Amino acid sequence: MMAHRFSKLSSGTMDSFIMGLVEVAARPGMISFATGLPDNSLFDVDGLAKASCDVLRDMGGGALQYDTAAGYIPLRERIAARCSKELGFKASWEDVILTNGSQECFDLIARMFLEPGDRMAVENPGYLGAIQSFSAYGPEFTGIDMGPEGADAGQLREAISGGAKLFYSIPNHQNPSGNSYSDAVRRDVAAAVEGSGCLLIEDDAYGELGYRGRAGKTMKSMAPEDTVLTGSFSKTISPGMRIGWMVVPEWMRAQAGKSLEAMSLQSGSFCQKVVDRFLQEHDYDAYLWELRKAYLAKKEFFLDAMEDCLPDSMEWNDPQGGMFVWLKSPEGTEAMRIFDAALERKLVVMPGKPFHVRGGGNTLRLNFATPSEDQIREGMKALGAACRVILG
Ligand SMILES: Cc1ncc(COP(=O)(O)O)c(C=O)c1O
Repeated sequence: MMAHRFSKLSSGTMDSFIMGLVEVAARPGMISFATGLPDNSLFDVDGLAKASCDVLRDMGGGALQYDTAAGYIPLRERIAARCSKELGFKASWEDVILTNGSQECFDLIARMFLEPGDRMAVENPGYLGAIQSFSAYGPEFTGIDMGPEGADAGQLREAISGGAKLFYSIPNHQNPSGNSYSDAVRRDVAAAVEGSGCLLIEDDAYGELGYRGRAGKTMKSMAPEDTVLTGSFSKTISPGMRIGWMVVPEWMRAQAGKSLEAMSLQSGSFCQKVVDRFLQEHDYDAYLWELRKAYLAKKEFFLDAMEDCLPDSMEWNDPQGGMFVWLKSPEGTEAMRIFDAALERKLVVMPGKPFHVRGGGNTLRLNFATPSEDQIREGMKALGAACRVILG
């Protein structure tokens, strides 16, 4: 048979580690703190069933038709209005491009801006799924250390001086660390990118899941011409419906629409109509407060279980939103060994190292949103035992 050769760029795409763990976590009897899935029981199944029926009844076949490349205009108007009301900047519906989950924005931005070998800055640790998507375009990554107050703006300035064209950041309840940027870091990062030629990608995937409201101002409101803000209904309404978006500066609109059309014609407009109808039929803010309350309660239950079960030498943070706790074993120890020991006890956790460009061997990411209280209780005992095996 003729040999078929994958392109250099496709075979150079990084492995994510995540999908492999989703499969392991799905095996019978496994408990998972590993993936980033929302809690099934918090999806509004009845509300979405009603919205779907209402759309089909009122729009008929039009509900099932192709739409414009950038998506269903009423939903884009709704997202633009929320930018003004909650995110601190004015956007027109034409600035809002609907995508197949916010994951598609990363591919779209990379295909618009990156040539192989271009420099790009990413948080260290940073969100692996997005970094995997960028990696398909062959950039050289520069890691910007991410601490409890956010990304190191000094390192970012250096990276920009060294030619970084993009900086990918998650200022709210970051995946993986759960940390958010302080106000000062937001200001510094916005000032660093403004007019610099480096485009900021501000990933707001968890911005609406701050337990006491939004964690801080958007950097898009501070450097609007140099920032693309990406958002998603995946963590609030449904990840399976795959509705994400990006809010682009006016100068990027036409190129973004053209690139999206070339890639997929458009993302799924039936689901866009259903979510638009759902938002018409519900008070979204009241809905979000219920969700935030439920995730806050889960986080507190999870942290109490950590306190009860984990050895004193383990350290973790107390995230103020989102779905993740960041766990550290003592400096110099290998958290991968905790991963292995936990797996033997039928618990899947996510090692932190794959989220890093450098370092991170002693870190683990734990998701408290997906497991039930019984699973948290049982899983945490397994995690405590796994830590003790390693720490002695
Ligand atoms: C930080 C972050 N950004 C983006 C995404 C992609 O989400 P989606 O494509 O479902 O919008 C995820 C998914 O877990 C995420 O954690």
